[in-house]
Parts: sequence; C-alpha cells; structure tokens
Amino acid sequence: MTGRAPSFAAQLAELESQGLLRTRRVVASAPATRIEVDGVQRTAFCSNDYLGLAQHPALIDAATTALREFGVGGTASHLISGHHASHARLEARLQAYLGRPCLVFSSGYAANTGALPALADAGDVLFCDALIHASLIDGARLSRARIERFAHNDMADLRHRLGSVSARRKLIVVDGVYSMDGDLAPLPDLLELAERHDAWLYVDDAHAFGVLGAGGRGTPAYFGLDSSRIIQLCTFGKAAGVAGAALCAEAEVVAWLVQRARSYVYSTAMPPALAAALDASLGLFADEDGRQRLAANIERFRKGCDSLPWTLLPSITPIQPLVVGDVVRVMAIAQALWEQGIWVPAIRPPTVPAGSARLRVSLSAAHTSDDVDLLIRALRRCAREC
Ligand SMILES: Cc1ncc(COP(=O)(O)O)c(C=O)c1O
Repeated sequence: MTGRAPSFAAQLAELESQGLLRTRRVVASAPATRIEVDGVQRTAFCSNDYLGLAQHPALIDAATTALREFGVGGTASHLISGHHASHARLEARLQAYLGRPCLVFSSGYAANTGALPALADAGDVLFCDALIHASLIDGARLSRARIERFAHNDMADLRHRLGSVSARRKLIVVDGVYSMDGDLAPLPDLLELAERHDAWLYVDDAHAFGVLGAGGRGTPAYFGLDSSRIIQLCTFGKAAGVAGAALCAEAEVVAWLVQRARSYVYSTAMPPALAAALDASLGLFADEDGRQRLAANIERFRKGCDSLPWTLLPSITPIQPLVVGDVVRVMAIAQALWEQGIWVPAIRPPTVPAGSARLRVSLSAAHTSDDVDLLIRALRRCAREC
C-alpha cells in the first residue's frame, strides 16, 4: 500500500515483537470442560459457562422447539417488529426473579454502550472504578458526561470526588465482580455513598449473575441490598449459558432506556429461540446444586495453590487469577500448561495493567475434582520447570 498513513502491518509487527499479539484458537466440540481445540483434546479452564448450562438438555430443547416454531432470525429491532412473545416472557420471568422491571439486550456490550449514554449526558458525571470492564469504558466515552476514574475499590477516593464535583446527575459505575481480578465491589459502601450524594449506582454483574447471592441473583442479593438507586446489568453469555443481557432497574429507568438506548433502538432483536433458551436457563437458577459444586471447586483449587510462587488474588468467585507479572513468562507458563493438556488463558496488557500479566483460571460447576487436581499438578510442575 502507498500513502502516508501508518501501516497496520508495522503496528502488528510491533505487537508481535512485544509478545502482545493476540491469536484465536478454533474450538470444534460442544462447550464442555474437555474440548477439541485446534485439532487436539484439552481440559479447559477458560470458559464463563460457570454453571455448565451451555449444553443443558432443557436449554437445547427450549431453543430447538422455538427454532422450529419461530425460525432463526430476530428479523427487526424491538421498536419495529422484533419484540417477540419469547422476549416478553423472558422479561416477565426476570422481573419476577429479580423483583424489578428488566430490559433485554442482545449482549452485555450492547447494554453497557447503550445504557450509559442514555443515562448520562453533558452536565452529568460518571464516577467509574479504575478496573471497570471495557464495555463500560466505551459506554462512558460515548456519553457526553464528564468521567471521573477513582482508584479500584477505593471509597475514600470516590467520596472525595463525589464531594468535589457538582452535576445535574451522578452515576457511580462499577463491576459487581471484576472480570480480570475476581474480587467484588464493596456494594454496601458504594450504596451508602450513592445515597449521601444522590447518585445512581450502576453495577455490571456479568460475572455474578447466576453465581452469587440467593438463587444467583447477583451482588445486590449477595450483600442483601435492595435499592431503587441500583441499576443492575445481568449478562446471559456466562452462567446462564446462552448470550445476551438485561438491565434491571426502576420502571422509569427501563422506560427511558427503551426510548434512548441506541443499541436497543437501532439493533436487531435477539433471536426468539435464544430468549426461549434463556427462559429455560433461568428456570434452573433456583437449584443450588450447581453453585455448591462450583464453590467446592473454588475451595479445592485455592487450597491446591498454596505452594505456588505466583500471587493468587483473593477471590470467592469462579475467576481465579494467578499473577505472574512478566508477559514472556506468563506466555511460557500458559504454553507449558497447554503441552500438559490444559488450556488456561494468559491475560496481558492492555487488558490488565503493565507488570501484572496473569493466568486467568475460570472454574465451572462442570469441572470434576479430578479436573481441578489435574490443573494443580500441572501448575506445580510449571513452577518447578518453567
Ligand atoms: C464485566 C463484563 N461486562 C460486560 C461484558 C460484555 O458482555 P457480553 O459478552 O454479553 O457482550 C463482559 C464480557 O466479557 C464482562 O466481563
């Protein structure tokens, strides 16, 4: 190519030379803990299918029946002709489950990038935790609101910023469970600050929905909170085993999002069959068995990591990060695990701060104790030999 614009090839080469080039592996089997990937079998610790529902017969049956009856496509946006009875049923089930109105989006990314610009505009301020998910950052940038980033889970910093900024509307934006660290937002403290400063509290509960709180209702339930100030994002591509998301909030907030969330208004609705599968998935959430098996796996894994030389971050969630630090070293360990039949992703900057490259172990209720022991043995071997 000619011309003066910088070439992408040079940028790609630079990423490669820094060990930061991302590649994709091809999975050729059904979602499970043992999968066929790039033509070989691996035990996987990298999926967000925390309850092992992605292959559940009840979901497959519901989707199959709906596919035969309603076809494949969403066919139009919700405000034109895409709002199907299965979406309405799903929203009604969610409302009964979470106790407040819910609005279904086709993904968590769409929900965050649509909702934040609808909820905050010029003259408003978004107080964002330093480690919020990329989709929230993008949503915040799309809004015309001023963005105040406070240090991760640092209530003193947030209190100071809330007190020193005046705005028409204030929104505190956090992840319920942080996706690369596995720790929780201190929701009771955040809600207290929201009340004192008359702010909304937007909680991205992607990694908590189905996992934490009674019936898997997420971090507000985990902390026993019930407040009209909380706007909770639940995503369906993780513990629910399907795809999509819902925002759960007061009726006036949901009504406003229907009018103004551009990713809702200007995008094709989720296919009705997925909404039907989600309805079936939510029907299984009340069963505590999966969460108990998941908790047992988390405990077993953490005990087994005792003697490893890397820092296991404090986490009661399926996200169990082992911080190695150096990019080259983390890649070498991930490769050594791969050669032992195990797939654990290495997470590098810019997804995590420089110097904190890590192995991100994701546990599921579908893992057996033998799977967890296999991983622990492989990690110990890497610690000795890598
Ligand atoms: C914290 C968090 N929020 C939002 C999303 C986006 O959700 P989705 O995958 O449904 O687009 C993710 C997914 O990776 C996430 O981890």
